[in-house]
Amino acid sequence: MTNIHKYTDQNRIAWDEIAQQRHMAMFPSASFFAEGGSVLADNVVAAAGDVRGLRLLHLQCSTGSDTLSWGVLGAQATGVDISPKQIEIAQHTADDAGLPVKFVAADVYGLPKELQASDFDVVFTGGGAMVWLPDIEEWARIVAAALRPGGRLLLEDEHPLASCLWIEDGELIIGSDYFARHQAIFEEAGWSHFAGGEQATETKYEFSWPLGDVITVLAKAGLYVEQLEEFPSTAAWRFGGKLDEARRLPGAYILVARKR
Ligand SMILES: C[S@@+](CC[C@H](N)C(=O)[O-])C[C@H]1O[C@@H](n2cnc3c(N)ncnc32)[C@H](O)[C@@H]1O
Repeated sequence: MTNIHKYTDQNRIAWDEIAQQRHMAMFPSASFFAEGGSVLADNVVAAAGDVRGLRLLHLQCSTGSDTLSWGVLGAQATGVDISPKQIEIAQHTADDAGLPVKFVAADVYGLPKELQASDFDVVFTGGGAMVWLPDIEEWARIVAAALRPGGRLLLEDEHPLASCLWIEDGELIIGSDYFARHQAIFEEAGWSHFAGGEQATETKYEFSWPLGDVITVLAKAGLYVEQLEEFPSTAAWRFGGKLDEARRLPGAYILVARKR
């Protein structure tokens, strides 16, 4: 096993720095959610089905827009993120919107015991989540511990193939190793492509987990795959003018896996 917390402790600092630089105006407002707004993509909502009354845990929820959207759709949603500053924004928005959505500041690898009590119907995560995980075997164990028997993981993320591609001098290049696994693909300071956080200087650690590994660790943790769909990328921030070319490769995926 890698020294997980060496990476996640630093990423907490980095994400708090990004949150500090971002402006509230960048996030959907409390009134947007109070009026029934949702930022979830149609294909994600379709994969989830009817979530009314379901207990849903959102891992790596950032400032909570997706979590609040699940709340609007009727789920009993709880969001978790390692960055206390982002969780503060998320809880503030929930309170102002009058939505009973709960937020917890915690490392996925140090999830409070009550969130690992096997009673969630759905664990949701994605939107750029997997690249921040230094160890996915342990992550899969935690997902399984959070789910009730018969509960589902709904993962919608950038495809790890797309995460390896980049634009350099106007050309599409292979920027990192798809098979890097425990070896961080980025260990960077002074650079950030996160909107509103471009001036961030803290080092961030990112990882590349082949899609086959993601499925294998989930199977080992006692989940079986019900759905795996690949989609072209919509990430103009990554591919810019080469987006049409990049869209010939898988750019995103939705995976649904159920606990036995
Ligand atoms: C690209 S953002 C994901 C945004 C998300 N899709 C959303 O709902 O808006 C990645 C998030 O993962 C969080 N994160 C990174 N490592 C984490 C960890 N070990 N435990 C919990 N959250 C973590 C970061 O703080 C950040 O908010």
